[in-house]
Amino acid sequence: MEKLMIAGGRPLRGTVQISGAKNSAIALIPAAILADSPVTLDNLPKVKDVDTYAEILCELGVSVEWNGDTMRIDSGRIRSIPMPNGQVKQLRASYYLMGVMLAKFGEATIGLPGGCNFEPRPIDQHIKGFEALGAEVSNQYGSIHIKAKQLRGAKIYLDVVSVGATINIMLAASRAKGLTTIENAAKEPEIIDVATLLNSMGARIKGAGTETIRIEGTDSLQGCRHSIIPDRIQAGTYMIAAAATRGDILVDNIIPKHLEAMTAKLQEMGAHIYEMDESIRVIGQSDYANVDVKALVYPGFATDLQSPMTSLLTQANGVSILTDYVYNNRFKHVPELLRMGAKIKLEGRSAVVEGSALNAAKVKATDLRAGASLVIAALTVDKGVSEISGVEYIDRGYDNLVENLQTMGAEVWREAEKKV
Ligand code: EPZ
Repeated sequence: MEKLMIAGGRPLRGTVQISGAKNSAIALIPAAILADSPVTLDNLPKVKDVDTYAEILCELGVSVEWNGDTMRIDSGRIRSIPMPNGQVKQLRASYYLMGVMLAKFGEATIGLPGGCNFEPRPIDQHIKGFEALGAEVSNQYGSIHIKAKQLRGAKIYLDVVSVGATINIMLAASRAKGLTTIENAAKEPEIIDVATLLNSMGARIKGAGTETIRIEGTDSLQGCRHSIIPDRIQAGTYMIAAAATRGDILVDNIIPKHLEAMTAKLQEMGAHIYEMDESIRVIGQSDYANVDVKALVYPGFATDLQSPMTSLLTQANGVSILTDYVYNNRFKHVPELLRMGAKIKLEGRSAVVEGSALNAAKVKATDLRAGASLVIAALTVDKGVSEISGVEYIDRGYDNLVENLQTMGAEVWREAEKKV
């Protein structure tokens, strides 16, 4: 196991190139299985979750060829086997195998997903969708078993706006007979990315990115080539880091529109932001105004940037309130920030953050975005060296984080965790 060591207090300066979106990649990789000929995906991020998914596909007999940021997926020899345990437990997005295997084989047995465990993460809306399409769903020893003689199009209203359920139902419905309508669908850019891939494979999906998506099922889907959208959450994390260290960075190879809520909030605090076609420049300031942040479904402020934003709010004057309306209790980073001297009170789904200088400390990442939050907090501390354990969480979703930060002037390095 490794830990990150950070001697902060140095403003980040320079350019960071953003890679493909992790939360797109781990939906597009299983989606590629639906094609009856090879699919090539470009601009894949080098993150643990993508490696894990590649291993899962190999277990299924799918041929996976990695070359740089390009992956060629050929499911010509895929086996329909149960996946009750093993790697499927490593990542939440393994649930996409349910929609894909159901569409391809009419049956799936997939272990309940793992991944970031900041709070219970039900999949009842996924199951509601599969049942509406005509599948029988049962829970067998912690695995979800799904079976359908023939998937038939249906009208599905999601009780909760869910990224995963929207994508999973789209995957299953792409091979159902007839028209499926998803109402109250999630509108994240990653959903549009999956629909774009499926349509390139011959699916007939309309409305992705709106609250109503229509999927006309087709008998077969063919291979294609697709480039993944940039990772808006990685981009937003670096924007926050630039503001927190009073630096001046260019976040390059992004779609600025995906970051409108983040840009607006940083400007409201007093950071200077310059938006270009495919990049955003963030110039930090010495003084920040306190602000209120509401984490909402897209296009609202992203819940995945809520934890990193909490660290920036410790640098603002006065009291800021951050409320997460997507998750009930995504605040496992807060006790660790308190160990660094932060002044934060948790009240229900809100964190009340009073501006204060932070101190170096030994802290622990408990999930992907909580880890990013601790990195940002440590980068603001100009005395001492902070130690962040649980780097494996951070590596699940941030590729080249240490290298990127070092290139921008941060004093950060990895060390082996001493065996106790
Ligand atoms: C995706 O998770 C992302 N993960 C999450 O990012 C992200 O936080 C989340 O969307 C929201 O944007 C991946 O894409 C792999 P949801 P997902 O279904 O699809 C409730 C990261 O850090 N819900 O949109 O699992 C759920 O409990 C990760 O990269 C149900 O009640 O999230 C939550 O409160 C963390 N029943 C809300 O909906 C369901 O069947 C939104 O969850 C499904 C979800």
